[in-house]
Amino acid sequence: MGEAFFIVFLFPIHTIAVMAEQQADLNKVLKQHLEMESFFAGDFAVRGGGQLFAEVPTEAEPGQENSEMVQSLETIAKTVRSCRKCEIGSTRTNAVPGQGNPKARLMFVGEAPGADEDKQGVAFIGRAGKLLTEIIKAMGLTREEVFIGNILKCRPPGNRDPKLDEIDNCWPYLKQQLETIQPEIIVALGAHAARTLLDSKLAIGKLRGRFHEYKFSDDLPPAKLMPTYHPAYLLRNYSYDNRKRVWEDMIKVLEELGLPVPKKKG
Ligand code: URA
Repeated sequence: MGEAFFIVFLFPIHTIAVMAEQQADLNKVLKQHLEMESFFAGDFAVRGGGQLFAEVPTEAEPGQENSEMVQSLETIAKTVRSCRKCEIGSTRTNAVPGQGNPKARLMFVGEAPGADEDKQGVAFIGRAGKLLTEIIKAMGLTREEVFIGNILKCRPPGNRDPKLDEIDNCWPYLKQQLETIQPEIIVALGAHAARTLLDSKLAIGKLRGRFHEYKFSDDLPPAKLMPTYHPAYLLRNYSYDNRKRVWEDMIKVLEELGLPVPKKKG
């Protein structure tokens, strides 16, 4: 009783409520982290056997057959870093062009950089990024084998939704990246990515779970596009069913690529 009185005396009630809320948030984050490790990583035996993704250095080396692609991705990245077409070009700390294997067979496209990505200029490295990394690992792959990018290359302040004119301004950069890499499969993470890439107004729940087509241009064969839930949505709605839905979408992607599907351990 004495102790409780002392705490209430020292901290006004609303401060105690905020502290309790922060503790609850922290507990939720810790619980999610542990579950994430076991659902998307620990519970799956990682793929062994044939290495179907060629290891490709991301730096251009003279004489290498991929050097042209690396250079063209570097040129796009440079243009992105100096782009000021939107207001968010002035509020960003760093532009985030996206990164990964220039010859990736699989490309993940998210919505827009968050605070961590803005600080470091690298896509998907915050909490949602860590979950995406676990998903990629559960697929038996590494971040270096795939390409990871976004619809917007600059962080919208406060992580608000992308505006239509921002998507229009930024779209040519992603389009060029897609045409350069020509992945066999694109995974659209969340509604903004899926709707932009498919030019659709449907909800992500209606789009996910089946392959659509993404047309690069008239003279190139289309890529298959799998919309799925955004990792940030998964973190906010961390149910077993939602994680299972994402995992089922990723199984379809692996099967389409002809890659083995890691089995749940036990
Ligand atoms: N969310 C995204 O959509 N992209 C990132 O790079 C990080 C979080």
